[in-house]
Amino acid sequence: MAPDQPPAPVEQHATDTAPVVITGATSGLGRETARALAKQGFPLILAARNVAGGRELADALSANGTSVDVRHLDLADLSSVKFFSQDLLADGVIPQAIICNAGVQTFDRMRRSADRFELTMATNVMGHVVLLEPLLNRMTPGSRVITLGSETHRGVSGLSASRVPGGRAWTSS
Ligand SMILES: NC(=O)c1ccc[n+]([C@@H]2O[C@H](COP(=O)([O-])OP(=O)(O)OC[C@H]3O[C@@H](n4cnc5c(N)ncnc54)[C@H](OP(=O)(O)O)[C@@H]3O)[C@@H](O)[C@H]2O)c1
Repeated sequence: MAPDQPPAPVEQHATDTAPVVITGATSGLGRETARALAKQGFPLILAARNVAGGRELADALSANGTSVDVRHLDLADLSSVKFFSQDLLADGVIPQAIICNAGVQTFDRMRRSADRFELTMATNVMGHVVLLEPLLNRMTPGSRVITLGSETHRGVSGLSASRVPGGRAWTSS
């Protein structure tokens, strides 16, 4: 598929019982995405660092009968990420979609994850890659993985997807 071509549409039904997992649904775009999907009746799993915030949202979203579960996930701690994916599999949960939305952007100083990686890369990229890895080959054909990214890197001199062998950025939003 050409890099700029959108993926072919796949029929997705809110009647599927498999949940949609959303990371970082406690605020911003993730919260709005969760609201929109709940309105359409998609069962949701809110993967939240802030479980209390996730529960508050889940209570509001499940008012119309939509199933909304909350599970703890700290993407900046790979042991938490591994636990999250393994726990889903142990419970027999195979998502119909995973929305990799959670992200941070740090400007002021070098911050590190629990595993000592730079925090932005650890949270936005590495955490999601480790989360997806055990789940991807269990998901059925037609399942979706959606990642949100940023164009910020374009402003960084010398950092360009065209300079990477293969020439494609990991995500673009
Ligand atoms: N808003 C924009 O203009 C814009 C533009 C380009 C790209 N994006 C991308 O879109 C996505 C969402 O952006 P947003 O503006 O909606 O962000 P936001 O309002 O700041 O929300 C970020 C979410 O990520 C969660 N999060 C942060 N660190 C986490 C961690 N270690 N583990 C688990 N969850 C964590 C936060 O949870 P807590 O509640 O625990 O903090 C929060 O729910 C991001 O990937 C961002 O890069 C946004």
